[in-house]
Amino acid sequence: KQLSMIGVPMDLGQMRRGVDMGPSAIRYAGVLERLEEIGYEVEDLGDLPIEKNSRLLQKQQPDYHHYQAVKQVNEKLAHQVSSIFQNKRFPLVLGGDHSIAIGTIAGAASHFQRLGVIWLDAHGDVNTKETSPSGNIHGMPLAISLGYGDQGLTSIYGTSAKVRPEDVVLIATRELDPGEKMFLKKHRIKVFTMHEIDLLGMPEVMKQTVDYLKHCDGVHLSFDLDSLDPDEAPGVGTPVNGGLTYRESLIAVELLHRENIITSAEFVEVNPILDERNKTAEKTVDLISSLLGEKLL
Ligand code: ARG
Ligand code: MN
Ligand code: MN
Ligand code: MN
Repeated sequence: KQLSMIGVPMDLGQMRRGVDMGPSAIRYAGVLERLEEIGYEVEDLGDLPIEKNSRLLQKQQPDYHHYQAVKQVNEKLAHQVSSIFQNKRFPLVLGGDHSIAIGTIAGAASHFQRLGVIWLDAHGDVNTKETSPSGNIHGMPLAISLGYGDQGLTSIYGTSAKVRPEDVVLIATRELDPGEKMFLKKHRIKVFTMHEIDLLGMPEVMKQTVDYLKHCDGVHLSFDLDSLDPDEAPGVGTPVNGGLTYRESLIAVELLHRENIITSAEFVEVNPILDERNKTAEKTVDLISSLLGEKLL
Protein backbone atom coordinates (compact mmCIF):
# COMPACT_ATOMS: atom_id res chain seq x y z
CA LYS A 1 0.00 0.00 0.00
CA GLN A 2 1.81 3.04 -1.32
CA LEU A 3 0.42 6.55 -1.21
CA SER A 4 1.67 9.98 -2.22
CA MET A 5 0.22 13.02 -0.55
CA ILE A 6 0.44 16.50 -2.01
CA GLY A 7 -0.76 19.78 -0.51
CA VAL A 8 -2.18 22.54 -2.69
CA PRO A 9 -2.38 25.72 -0.59
CA MET A 10 -4.65 27.41 -3.10
CA ASP A 11 -7.03 30.13 -1.99
CA LEU A 12 -7.40 32.06 -5.24
CA GLY A 13 -10.45 30.14 -6.46
CA GLN A 14 -12.63 32.05 -4.02
CA MET A 15 -12.63 35.25 -1.98
CA ARG A 16 -12.09 34.24 1.62
CA ARG A 17 -8.48 33.94 2.64
CA GLY A 18 -7.35 31.11 4.89
CA VAL A 19 -8.15 27.98 2.90
CA ASP A 20 -4.49 28.05 1.82
CA MET A 21 -3.74 26.83 5.35
CA GLY A 22 -5.86 23.72 4.82
CA PRO A 23 -2.95 21.38 3.98
CA SER A 24 -1.07 22.50 7.12
CA ALA A 25 -4.11 22.00 9.32
CA ILE A 26 -4.70 18.50 7.92
CA ARG A 27 -1.05 17.55 8.42
CA TYR A 28 -1.13 19.03 11.93
CA ALA A 29 -4.19 16.88 12.69
CA GLY A 30 -1.99 13.84 12.12
CA VAL A 31 -2.81 12.49 8.68
CA LEU A 32 0.64 10.94 8.15
CA GLU A 33 0.64 9.03 11.42
CA ARG A 34 -2.89 7.73 10.91
CA LEU A 35 -2.12 6.44 7.42
CA GLU A 36 1.07 4.79 8.60
CA GLU A 37 -0.87 3.08 11.38
CA ILE A 38 -3.12 1.42 8.81
CA GLY A 39 -0.09 0.19 6.92
CA TYR A 40 0.53 2.75 4.20
CA GLU A 41 3.96 3.69 3.03
CA VAL A 42 3.37 7.44 2.73
CA GLU A 43 5.39 9.84 0.65
CA ASP A 44 4.61 13.49 1.50
CA LEU A 45 5.49 15.57 -1.55
CA GLY A 46 4.93 18.79 0.38
CA ASP A 47 2.97 21.73 -0.99
CA LEU A 48 2.79 22.99 -4.55
CA PRO A 49 4.10 26.56 -4.71
CA ILE A 50 1.33 29.12 -5.13
CA GLU A 51 2.09 32.64 -6.22
CA LYS A 52 1.04 34.84 -3.34
CA ASN A 53 1.18 38.55 -2.76
CA SER A 54 -1.25 41.20 -1.67
CA ARG A 55 -1.25 42.87 -5.09
CA LEU A 56 -2.24 39.64 -6.75
CA LEU A 57 -5.09 39.23 -4.28
CA GLN A 58 -6.36 42.72 -5.15
CA LYS A 59 -6.22 42.12 -8.87
CA GLN A 60 -9.47 40.57 -10.04
CA GLN A 61 -10.50 39.54 -13.48
CA PRO A 62 -14.22 40.17 -14.00
CA ASP A 63 -15.24 36.67 -15.15
CA TYR A 64 -12.64 34.44 -13.56
CA HIS A 65 -10.88 35.77 -10.46
CA HIS A 66 -7.14 35.01 -10.42
CA TYR A 67 -7.47 33.16 -13.70
CA GLN A 68 -3.75 32.90 -14.54
CA ALA A 69 -2.68 31.75 -11.10
CA VAL A 70 -5.43 29.13 -10.90
CA LYS A 71 -4.55 27.86 -14.38
CA GLN A 72 -0.83 27.57 -13.66
CA VAL A 73 -1.29 25.73 -10.37
CA ASN A 74 -3.71 23.27 -11.93
CA GLU A 75 -1.31 22.56 -14.78
CA LYS A 76 1.39 21.68 -12.25
CA LEU A 77 -1.00 19.65 -10.15
CA ALA A 78 -2.18 17.60 -13.13
CA HIS A 79 1.43 16.67 -13.91
CA GLN A 80 2.11 15.73 -10.30
CA VAL A 81 -1.00 13.56 -9.99
CA SER A 82 -0.21 11.87 -13.26
CA SER A 83 3.33 11.03 -12.18
CA ILE A 84 2.04 9.65 -8.85
CA PHE A 85 -0.08 7.24 -10.91
CA GLN A 86 2.92 6.43 -13.08
CA ASN A 87 4.79 5.44 -9.92
CA LYS A 88 1.87 3.13 -9.10
CA ARG A 89 0.97 5.02 -5.94
CA PHE A 90 -2.37 6.31 -4.66
CA PRO A 91 -2.69 10.12 -5.07
CA LEU A 92 -4.10 11.97 -2.06
CA VAL A 93 -4.51 15.71 -2.65
CA LEU A 94 -5.04 18.14 0.24
CA GLY A 95 -6.65 21.50 -0.53
CA GLY A 96 -6.92 24.32 -0.85
CA ASP A 97 -10.13 25.49 -2.44
CA HIS A 98 -12.09 23.32 -4.85
CA SER A 99 -10.62 24.90 -8.00
CA ILE A 100 -7.80 22.37 -7.60
CA ALA A 101 -10.12 19.57 -8.71
CA ILE A 102 -9.47 20.80 -12.26
CA GLY A 103 -5.86 19.65 -12.01
CA THR A 104 -6.42 16.53 -9.93
CA ILE A 105 -9.09 15.20 -12.28
CA ALA A 106 -7.08 16.09 -15.40
CA GLY A 107 -4.08 14.18 -14.03
CA ALA A 108 -6.17 11.19 -12.96
CA ALA A 109 -8.19 11.04 -16.19
CA SER A 110 -5.04 10.50 -18.25
CA HIS A 111 -4.64 7.06 -16.60
CA PHE A 112 -8.11 5.63 -17.19
CA GLN A 113 -10.42 4.89 -20.11
CA ARG A 114 -13.46 5.98 -18.13
CA LEU A 115 -12.81 7.94 -14.97
CA GLY A 116 -15.81 8.17 -12.65
CA VAL A 117 -16.10 11.08 -10.25
CA ILE A 118 -17.91 11.15 -6.91
CA TRP A 119 -18.48 14.77 -5.90
CA LEU A 120 -19.37 15.11 -2.22
CA ASP A 121 -20.30 18.76 -1.78
CA ALA A 122 -23.04 21.12 -0.64
CA HIS A 123 -22.57 22.73 -4.05
CA GLY A 124 -22.62 21.57 -7.65
CA ASP A 125 -19.54 23.47 -8.79
CA VAL A 126 -20.87 23.31 -12.35
CA ASN A 127 -20.94 27.02 -13.05
CA THR A 128 -19.47 28.57 -16.16
CA LYS A 129 -18.67 32.24 -16.50
CA GLU A 130 -22.17 32.77 -17.94
CA THR A 131 -23.90 31.30 -14.89
CA SER A 132 -21.48 32.05 -12.03
CA PRO A 133 -22.85 34.59 -9.57
CA SER A 134 -19.37 35.21 -8.16
CA GLY A 135 -16.68 34.70 -10.80
CA ASN A 136 -15.02 32.35 -8.31
CA ILE A 137 -13.37 29.42 -10.05
CA HIS A 138 -14.01 27.08 -7.10
CA GLY A 139 -17.66 27.14 -8.22
CA MET A 140 -16.71 25.85 -11.69
CA PRO A 141 -14.31 22.86 -11.53
CA LEU A 142 -16.81 20.10 -12.25
CA ALA A 143 -18.14 21.92 -15.33
CA ILE A 144 -14.56 22.43 -16.49
CA SER A 145 -13.72 18.73 -16.02
CA LEU A 146 -16.80 17.91 -18.10
CA GLY A 147 -15.43 20.15 -20.85
CA TYR A 148 -17.57 23.26 -20.26
CA GLY A 149 -16.11 26.70 -19.64
CA ASP A 150 -12.97 28.56 -20.50
CA GLN A 151 -10.86 26.71 -23.03
CA GLY A 152 -7.62 27.52 -21.25
CA LEU A 153 -8.96 25.60 -18.25
CA THR A 154 -10.77 22.75 -20.02
CA SER A 155 -7.63 22.01 -22.03
CA ILE A 156 -5.31 21.58 -19.03
CA TYR A 157 -3.41 18.28 -19.39
CA GLY A 158 -5.36 16.98 -22.38
CA THR A 159 -7.66 18.71 -24.77
CA SER A 160 -11.12 17.23 -24.45
CA ALA A 161 -13.48 16.65 -21.55
CA LYS A 162 -11.86 14.64 -18.76
CA VAL A 163 -15.05 12.94 -17.59
CA ARG A 164 -18.41 12.13 -19.11
CA PRO A 165 -21.68 13.36 -17.58
CA GLU A 166 -22.87 9.76 -17.12
CA ASP A 167 -19.75 8.97 -15.06
CA VAL A 168 -20.38 11.62 -12.40
CA VAL A 169 -22.35 11.38 -9.14
CA LEU A 170 -23.04 14.36 -6.87
CA ILE A 171 -23.84 13.66 -3.22
CA ALA A 172 -25.02 15.97 -0.40
CA THR A 173 -26.02 18.73 -2.84
CA ARG A 174 -28.16 21.46 -1.33
CA GLU A 175 -27.23 24.82 -2.82
CA LEU A 176 -27.33 25.22 -6.58
CA ASP A 177 -27.37 28.40 -8.62
CA PRO A 178 -30.15 28.60 -11.26
CA GLY A 179 -27.71 27.94 -14.12
CA GLU A 180 -26.30 24.93 -12.28
CA LYS A 181 -29.74 23.36 -11.95
CA MET A 182 -30.18 23.74 -15.69
CA PHE A 183 -26.73 22.30 -16.38
CA LEU A 184 -27.28 19.22 -14.20
CA LYS A 185 -30.68 18.53 -15.78
CA LYS A 186 -29.53 19.17 -19.33
CA HIS A 187 -26.63 16.74 -18.99
CA ARG A 188 -28.72 14.25 -16.99
CA ILE A 189 -26.14 14.12 -14.21
CA LYS A 190 -26.85 11.81 -11.27
CA VAL A 191 -27.46 13.86 -8.12
CA PHE A 192 -28.25 12.63 -4.62
CA THR A 193 -29.33 15.85 -2.91
CA MET A 194 -29.80 16.00 0.86
CA HIS A 195 -33.44 15.17 0.13
CA GLU A 196 -32.49 11.78 -1.34
CA ILE A 197 -30.07 11.16 1.53
CA ASP A 198 -32.85 11.86 4.05
CA LEU A 199 -35.20 9.53 2.19
CA LEU A 200 -32.90 6.64 1.32
CA GLY A 201 -30.18 6.84 3.95
CA MET A 202 -26.50 7.11 3.17
CA PRO A 203 -25.81 3.34 2.85
CA GLU A 204 -28.41 3.00 0.08
CA VAL A 205 -27.11 6.16 -1.63
CA MET A 206 -23.59 4.74 -1.64
CA LYS A 207 -24.81 1.37 -2.90
CA GLN A 208 -26.58 3.07 -5.83
CA THR A 209 -23.53 5.27 -6.46
CA VAL A 210 -21.14 2.34 -6.67
CA ASP A 211 -23.55 0.49 -8.93
CA TYR A 212 -24.00 3.55 -11.16
CA LEU A 213 -20.22 3.82 -11.69
CA LYS A 214 -19.44 0.11 -12.07
CA HIS A 215 -18.47 0.47 -15.74
CA CYS A 216 -15.70 2.94 -14.86
CA ASP A 217 -12.11 1.67 -14.61
CA GLY A 218 -11.15 4.38 -12.09
CA VAL A 219 -13.11 6.54 -9.64
CA HIS A 220 -11.93 9.83 -8.19
CA LEU A 221 -13.40 11.06 -4.91
CA SER A 222 -13.63 14.84 -4.67
CA PHE A 223 -14.59 15.59 -1.09
CA ASP A 224 -15.57 19.18 -0.23
CA LEU A 225 -15.76 19.49 3.55
CA ASP A 226 -18.76 21.80 3.22
CA SER A 227 -20.78 18.65 2.45
CA LEU A 228 -20.82 18.22 6.22
CA ASP A 229 -23.18 20.32 8.30
CA PRO A 230 -21.55 23.59 9.47
CA ASP A 231 -22.27 22.50 13.07
CA GLU A 232 -19.91 19.59 12.49
CA ALA A 233 -17.42 21.26 10.16
CA PRO A 234 -17.45 25.04 10.64
CA GLY A 235 -14.03 25.56 9.07
CA VAL A 236 -15.15 26.03 5.46
CA GLY A 237 -15.52 29.15 3.32
CA THR A 238 -19.03 28.58 1.98
CA PRO A 239 -21.03 26.81 4.73
CA VAL A 240 -24.59 25.70 3.96
CA ASN A 241 -27.03 24.52 6.63
CA GLY A 242 -28.69 21.14 6.46
CA GLY A 243 -25.62 19.09 5.66
CA LEU A 244 -24.31 15.62 6.41
CA THR A 245 -23.74 14.55 9.95
CA TYR A 246 -20.27 13.36 10.81
CA ARG A 247 -21.61 9.80 11.06
CA GLU A 248 -23.22 9.99 7.59
CA SER A 249 -19.99 11.25 6.07
CA LEU A 250 -18.02 8.45 7.72
CA ILE A 251 -20.31 5.65 6.60
CA ALA A 252 -20.06 7.04 3.05
CA VAL A 253 -16.28 6.71 2.94
CA GLU A 254 -16.28 3.43 4.88
CA LEU A 255 -18.54 1.90 2.25
CA LEU A 256 -16.34 3.25 -0.54
CA HIS A 257 -13.41 1.54 1.14
CA ARG A 258 -15.32 -1.72 1.36
CA GLU A 259 -16.19 -1.55 -2.34
CA ASN A 260 -12.56 -0.82 -3.15
CA ILE A 261 -13.35 1.46 -6.10
CA ILE A 262 -11.59 4.74 -5.28
CA THR A 263 -8.37 5.25 -7.24
CA SER A 264 -7.58 8.85 -6.16
CA ALA A 265 -8.98 11.33 -3.66
CA GLU A 266 -8.87 14.99 -2.70
CA PHE A 267 -10.16 16.76 0.40
CA VAL A 268 -10.79 20.45 -0.10
CA GLU A 269 -12.10 23.73 1.34
CA VAL A 270 -10.77 23.28 4.90
CA ASN A 271 -10.31 26.82 6.23
CA PRO A 272 -8.54 26.92 9.62
CA ILE A 273 -9.20 30.66 10.10
CA LEU A 274 -12.93 29.96 10.20
CA ASP A 275 -12.59 26.71 12.16
CA GLU A 276 -13.02 25.93 15.84
CA ARG A 277 -9.87 24.43 17.34
CA ASN A 278 -9.01 22.62 14.09
CA LYS A 279 -12.04 20.31 14.36
CA THR A 280 -12.77 20.43 10.64
CA ALA A 281 -9.22 19.30 9.81
CA GLU A 282 -9.46 16.59 12.48
CA LYS A 283 -12.66 15.26 10.92
CA THR A 284 -10.98 15.44 7.53
CA VAL A 285 -8.25 13.13 8.83
CA ASP A 286 -10.91 10.75 10.18
CA LEU A 287 -12.53 10.70 6.74
CA ILE A 288 -9.24 10.15 4.92
CA SER A 289 -8.31 7.32 7.30
CA SER A 290 -11.69 5.61 6.97
CA LEU A 291 -11.62 5.91 3.19
CA LEU A 292 -8.24 4.21 3.21
CA GLY A 293 -9.19 1.38 5.52
CA GLU A 294 -8.95 2.40 9.16
CA LYS A 295 -11.20 0.18 11.30
CA LEU A 296 -12.72 0.82 14.73
CA LEU A 297 -11.93 -2.73 15.80
N1 ARG B 1 -22.15 28.38 -6.42
C1 ARG B 1 -21.35 29.37 -5.77
C2 ARG B 1 -20.40 30.03 -6.76
O1 ARG B 1 -20.31 29.63 -7.89
C3 ARG B 1 -20.59 28.80 -4.60
C4 ARG B 1 -19.58 27.74 -4.97
C5 ARG B 1 -18.97 27.09 -3.78
N2 ARG B 1 -17.99 26.12 -4.18
C6 ARG B 1 -17.17 25.48 -3.34
N3 ARG B 1 -16.26 24.68 -3.88
N4 ARG B 1 -17.23 25.65 -2.05
O2 ARG B 1 -19.70 30.95 -6.41
MN1 MN C 1 -16.99 22.43 -3.90
MN1 MN D 1 -18.92 23.30 -1.58
MN1 MN E 1 -25.17 18.66 14.74
